Amino acid sequence: MEHLVSSWYNDRSLPESYILPPEDRPGMLPLGKNIPVVDLGAPDQTDILQQILEASQEFGMFQVINHGVPSNLIDEAMSVFKEFHALSAEDKAIETSKDPDKSCYMYTSSHNYATEKFHFWRDGLLHHCNPLEKYIQFWPEKPPKYRQVVAIYTAELRKVGFRILEFISQGLGVNPDHFRGELGENQRVLVNHYPPCPDPSLTLGLCKHRDPTVINILLQKDVYGLEVFKDEEWIGVEPIPYAFVVTLGVLMQIISNGKLKAAEHRVVTNSNLARTTAAFALDPFNETLIEPAKALVDANNPALFKSLSYKDFLIKYRADASYGTTPEELLID
Ligand code: OGA
Ligand code: NI
Repeated sequence: MEHLVSSWYNDRSLPESYILPPEDRPGMLPLGKNIPVVDLGAPDQTDILQQILEASQEFGMFQVINHGVPSNLIDEAMSVFKEFHALSAEDKAIETSKDPDKSCYMYTSSHNYATEKFHFWRDGLLHHCNPLEKYIQFWPEKPPKYRQVVAIYTAELRKVGFRILEFISQGLGVNPDHFRGELGENQRVLVNHYPPCPDPSLTLGLCKHRDPTVINILLQKDVYGLEVFKDEEWIGVEPIPYAFVVTLGVLMQIISNGKLKAAEHRVVTNSNLARTTAAFALDPFNETLIEPAKALVDANNPALFKSLSYKDFLIKYRADASYGTTPEELLID
C-alpha cells in the first residue's frame, strides 16, 4: 500500500507531487448556483420522475432528500467510516488484507498512483457489498461496529439506488427493471477521506472525472468539497447533512444512448477540516455487456456507443491519464 495521505499530512507542507499546474488548480466559485434537490417523499410520483429526468439530462447530478434512510443510521455509518480512517496505517493495512482476491482494499490518490503525473489528496477504502454473505467476511473488523452498521447502511442504499433507477428507466422509456439484474447488482462502497490540506489552492482531493459506474450515491454530510462542471463552469454542491448526492456515471450515458449525462466533477480540499464521504455505486459485473438499451435504438436513433464488457470498459477508463475516459472515446466511428 502506498503511503496514505493521512499517515503523513500532519508533518509537512504540500509536497511538489501534489501541486497541480495553474490551469487545474481550484479557483473561487461563483456563489448562488446549485444542483437540483429532489424530494423523494413528495406525493406526486410523476413530478418526482420529471425532476429526476430533467436533472439527469442537464446536470447528470442531483441531491435527494426524504429518501427513507433514517438519519441515525446515516450518523452511525459516518461515524464508523471516520473511525476506520482514524486507525493507524498498520491497522488499516491489516483490516483490508483479509481477502486474497482483494474485494476489500485501500489506495491513495487514484488507481494510477505509480504512473500519474500528480497525486490527489485522498485516501480510499473500497469494498464490495453484494451479496453480503460473500463479502462481509472481508470487511474491516475495526472499528468493532463497522460490519454491523455498514451492512444495514448499504442494504438501505441499495433500495434507494434501485428506486432512483426505476424512475430513470421510466423516464427513458425502457423496462422499469432494466438495471435490476446484471447492470446494477454489483454494488460497492468507496469511503473517501480527505485530511486537512496545507494548501487547498494548489491541489485537489480528486481531479475532474466522471464515475465509471451506472449511478453513485454519495453521502457528504456537512463538509463542503464536491463541485460539478456545467456549461464551462464549476458549481459547488451544497452539503445538506442527511441528503444524498446522486451522480450519473459514464455507463448511464452509454445505456441511455446519450440521452442522459454523466456528470464531470471534482473534489476540493480545505485546510481546517478533515472530510469523509461514502460513495455507494451500482455497477455491472465484469462480463456484463455495456451498450445502449435496445429500446432506445432504431433506424432513426442509431447506437452512439460501441458495446463492450464492463471489464474492458474499466481497462480503458483506468488507462486514461486524466482519470476518467470520456464516453466520446467509445463513440462509434
Ligand atoms: C468519487 C467522488 C466525491 C466526494 O468517489 O468518485 O467523486 O465528495 N467523490 O468524495
Ligand atoms: Ni466521482
